[in-house]
Amino acid sequence: MKIVESPFDMQAAADDLRAAGRRIGFVPTMGNLHEGHLSLIRIARKQANAVVVSNFVNPAQFGPGEDFDSYPRTFEADCALCEREGVDLVFHPTAGTMYPPDSSVIVAEQSLSRTLCGASRPGHFDGVCTVVAKLFHIVLPHLAVFGEKDGQQLRIIRRMVRDLHIPVEIVPGPTVRESDGLALSSRNQYLTAEQRPQALCLRRALDEAERLFAAGERDPSVLEAAMRAVIAREPDARIDYASIVDDESLQPLDCPIVRPALAALAVWVGAPRLIDNTVLKG
Ligand code: PAJ
Repeated sequence: MKIVESPFDMQAAADDLRAAGRRIGFVPTMGNLHEGHLSLIRIARKQANAVVVSNFVNPAQFGPGEDFDSYPRTFEADCALCEREGVDLVFHPTAGTMYPPDSSVIVAEQSLSRTLCGASRPGHFDGVCTVVAKLFHIVLPHLAVFGEKDGQQLRIIRRMVRDLHIPVEIVPGPTVRESDGLALSSRNQYLTAEQRPQALCLRRALDEAERLFAAGERDPSVLEAAMRAVIAREPDARIDYASIVDDESLQPLDCPIVRPALAALAVWVGAPRLIDNTVLKG
């Protein structure tokens, strides 16, 4: 397994792979890899015959006061996992090469990124789109795998690729969960022993929305209130949003729901802010 730090060397390696007729599958990550990331690597391996994983904690997607400095960096362990999964190449750039001090071009999505996480983390998705566009131009993949756990991110990246005619196929990967239903996340390690069981309220709230939807409930405000009620039972849980939105536009839905909807949550459980989502469709 090769580890490449410079964007120039990465492009050269990608050119070589393409010239040799290889299909490049790409999994962008910020490291601290867990089974969720590994599941995406396995999807890439099935659909491609050269797999590149990027490992870069992207400063541009963290706001002031967010956890950029404390974000867990475990590069050695991440490389061991990548090696075990048969990854061909790990791209591990420095912030300096990704963002020269006078860099002045960004990619800004202007609609889907305004709701949900975008509303409470202004600039976050500009940072995500900008780094993913850069990574696509550096890694030159045929396909890239993104987790459904970050549902808004997946939809925004799909829109970016469509609108900018970027020739990369976006492949979704299902959310990997602990056996009790908690979605795997690098931020789960910050839950205390008292908070860990309370974090299940996200999955429970989505289950409740799914149950009501399956029983015929089509009023988004009733579904949102039901999710809020489940979360409100936990003393350390504080809701950022608990929303039912259009699955494609991510805008609020009229009653009754007649199109596929996304039930999406962001909840602080103690210090960490956790997210989860599910698609509701009849
Ligand atoms: P990161 O949080 O490291 O996530 C990398 C990828 O793993 C994303 O596509 C995310 O949706 C996926 N992922 C995380 N937890 C998952 C789980 N439990 N099940 C399945 N997939 C999961 O998302 C980012 O990094 C960054 O924003 C990035 C796209 C790398 C741009 O910097």
